[in-house]
Amino acid sequence: MSEIFPRELKWELPGTSRIPFLTYTSDELYQRELERFFYKGHWCYVGLEAEIPNAGDFTRTVVGERSVIMVRDADGSINVIENVCAHRGMRFCRERHGNRKGFVCPYHQWSYTLKGDLQGVPFRRGVRQEGKVVGGMPADFDTKEHGLTKLKVATRGGVVFASFDPEVEALEAYLGPAILGYFDRLFDGRKLTILGYNRQRIPGNWKLMQENIKDPYHPGLLHTWFVTYGLWRADNKSELKMDEHYRHAAMISTRGQAGKADQVTQVSSFKEGMQLHDPRFLDIVPEDWWGGPTAVMTTIFPSVILQQQVNSVSTRHIQPTGHGSFDFVWTHFGFEDDTPEMTQRRLRQANLFGPAGFVSADDGEVIEFSQQSFESKPFHRTLAELGGRTVADTDHMVTETLIRGMYAYWRKVMES
Ligand code: FES
Ligand code: FE2
Repeated sequence: MSEIFPRELKWELPGTSRIPFLTYTSDELYQRELERFFYKGHWCYVGLEAEIPNAGDFTRTVVGERSVIMVRDADGSINVIENVCAHRGMRFCRERHGNRKGFVCPYHQWSYTLKGDLQGVPFRRGVRQEGKVVGGMPADFDTKEHGLTKLKVATRGGVVFASFDPEVEALEAYLGPAILGYFDRLFDGRKLTILGYNRQRIPGNWKLMQENIKDPYHPGLLHTWFVTYGLWRADNKSELKMDEHYRHAAMISTRGQAGKADQVTQVSSFKEGMQLHDPRFLDIVPEDWWGGPTAVMTTIFPSVILQQQVNSVSTRHIQPTGHGSFDFVWTHFGFEDDTPEMTQRRLRQANLFGPAGFVSADDGEVIEFSQQSFESKPFHRTLAELGGRTVADTDHMVTETLIRGMYAYWRKVMES
């Protein structure tokens, strides 16, 4: 056995089919992940335009661990500015959302425009005392040099991304053509409506959430609810697609129409007699824009998951809070042309998801219990060898190729 608490990452085999537990437990690696994935060279999700429809509307969110404000400017454009006062660094905005003409830091009342430009500094020119002016900022103090940090912003189909990196490539190139196609399928320009939020803190490494949605092996096994009520079957027609760097992925599946199939697991048989008291949870109505698939789960690395699971649609924002935990924020939405019945249906189906969802509660738990093992046995590694040890798009679900793909990208960028 090697060291129990290794400092160096060791990959057991070439490739990424055996992932060291240390990738989930090391603070040093985590800091490097923040730098290289969240603060440089990548776009991070910050919200939906529909959350801030009017001039001055804002929401407070994060890019990595850094607090930012997404705000609608007077001219209708969207700014993302860092929530760190240019004076003494206070995190000045405490509200989760609201409407403002500008931002004022309560500590010494420096005030900023919606663009993040500094506009007022109390006692900048000192005060008059016994006939002369005392104090104040130095004569060469220039407000133009002391605005808030402004992020680069990209919007597409009503979704807002931001980056601290002014050199980051265009969002469309970042997503790549295959993933962009699935992005546009969901966000095709229709106006979105916000139906509500779920928030949870999951005591596990942030990458485990990406892996969970890149893992088509588990839904038909862990999520007995899915299987019992026929929403997920191992024989669903399905495809897995990645961008050229293997960082983003789409799991595309089409629900079998042929009634109950022979399951390769025992899950369905022992739940055979179970019935829902309220069958409206599964009152599924196909929508034109689906264009075939009944579920598409898209992971946009590193920060967000785009969910379409029959009539339930949401974004799921991954907000890391240290190597061993992250906040997971779900924004359930609909479309402006939805009938009231469709809105009700989306809300009902949303009960499958979120921290206490019939399906998603399972994912939060397995992530927590995985992290517990990683912490106690950091010299060990996980196994992701279903479907082989290589990485490629597939037309079936019986593979962990997307996880191997994500770690191929991780190793390249992390140089680890
Ligand atoms: Fe914000 Fe002083 S820290 S005004
Ligand atoms: Fe799951």
